[in-house]
Amino acid sequence: MASQNNGEHGKPIKVALLGCGTVGTEVVRLLTDQAADLTARVGAPVEIAGIAVRRPHKHRDVPAELLTTDAEALVESDVDVVVEVIGGIEPARTLLLAALRSGKAVVTANKALLAEHSAELFEASDASGADLYFEAAVAGAIPLLRPLRESLAGDRITRVMGIVNGTTNFILSGMDSTGASYAETLEEATQLGYAEADPTADVDGFDAASKAAILASLAFHSRVTAADVHREGISSVSAADIAAAKALGRTVKLLAICERVITDGVEGISVRVHPAMIPTSHPLASVHGAFNAVFVEADAAGEMMFYGQGAGGAPTASAVLGDLVAVARNRVHRGRGPRESAYAGLPVRPMGQTPTRYHISLDVADRAGVLSQVAAVFAEHDVSIAAVRQEGRVDDASLVIVTHAATDAALRSTVDKIGGLPVVREVVSVMRVEGEEL
Ligand code: HSE
Repeated sequence: MASQNNGEHGKPIKVALLGCGTVGTEVVRLLTDQAADLTARVGAPVEIAGIAVRRPHKHRDVPAELLTTDAEALVESDVDVVVEVIGGIEPARTLLLAALRSGKAVVTANKALLAEHSAELFEASDASGADLYFEAAVAGAIPLLRPLRESLAGDRITRVMGIVNGTTNFILSGMDSTGASYAETLEEATQLGYAEADPTADVDGFDAASKAAILASLAFHSRVTAADVHREGISSVSAADIAAAKALGRTVKLLAICERVITDGVEGISVRVHPAMIPTSHPLASVHGAFNAVFVEADAAGEMMFYGQGAGGAPTASAVLGDLVAVARNRVHRGRGPRESAYAGLPVRPMGQTPTRYHISLDVADRAGVLSQVAAVFAEHDVSIAAVRQEGRVDDASLVIVTHAATDAALRSTVDKIGGLPVVREVVSVMRVEGEEL
């Protein structure tokens, strides 16, 4: 029975929790500490029916009688909602498909799973009418997917650009403030516990690429998987890159960018993760340390920024609980959350066709005709120069060039050819520029 707001509550919503690490433990704590409020908000008590873990003896901070090693049986039992915080593809995929197929609502924080198997999950959700919510999969506590999925559903989103990985933002912020190298800063981040012992998923951009795929799918009503995302990590960002950015009033961030692009008159989307220079006046430039922020542009709404903690037990559990309340309310009031919306089917353009802008810093011989030789290479590739700055030294010069937008392929070829010119002694720094028009 639905709650009538008269103090009477419906029958309990039973929850199966899969996984009980940092996030799962916080989910249990919040569900317990806030039980009365959650009951009032949902219209029925929300109760944990069981917690599936691999090693029960390691989980002394949750009620022992709830622990089980049999996740499959827990999912098959008489529960209403399955909350998954295990991460990774299997066994999460099989368990969640089973839950959805049997009509149980699913709340998951699993970005890798959503970025690879969302089609299959949404199909199962549609077939049974069960809810599939995943706010915690991108940017932790920050309400971002619900705004894209629901609040902005009447608008036309043109661009989503954000810092969605705290580890890499912590490292780049550190390099910016100390001038230290990538390797030194990564080591410090590892010692402080900000970077994992194996930081590959973060520093090579895999984590951000999964999140970019989810954001692009929702923003552009198209199906985008992690494999569609152009991905570059931060391990090749040098102290020279950071210094070059600073000299021009810019800072370097690892950005996840999802935007509409027109190629030969046909609309598509570009979805990419790479380091880029942004002006220090851009709102994303002031996002430091392990924080996340996402800048969204839409036709009618204009510019918006979402900011907050993108990782950690309690912040991520906050997003999980928000979803849990939503699916529990839907259950109590016999409603249904939003379904997958991939009707637009916009194609993902290859990186080479994506319009970008480059910052190029060179050490060149300081003599007549050098600038014209360099400029000729840009002209040859139909790349327009937006700004040039030259500083002479004793027998050479530093030359900094910022381009107008051109295809990434044309810019790459330009840089390759310039690097081979005899008058160019060193290509000091090459980086894409975002967040400003020239
Ligand atoms: N490892 C991620 C980060 C958090 O550094 O932001 C989980 O996605």
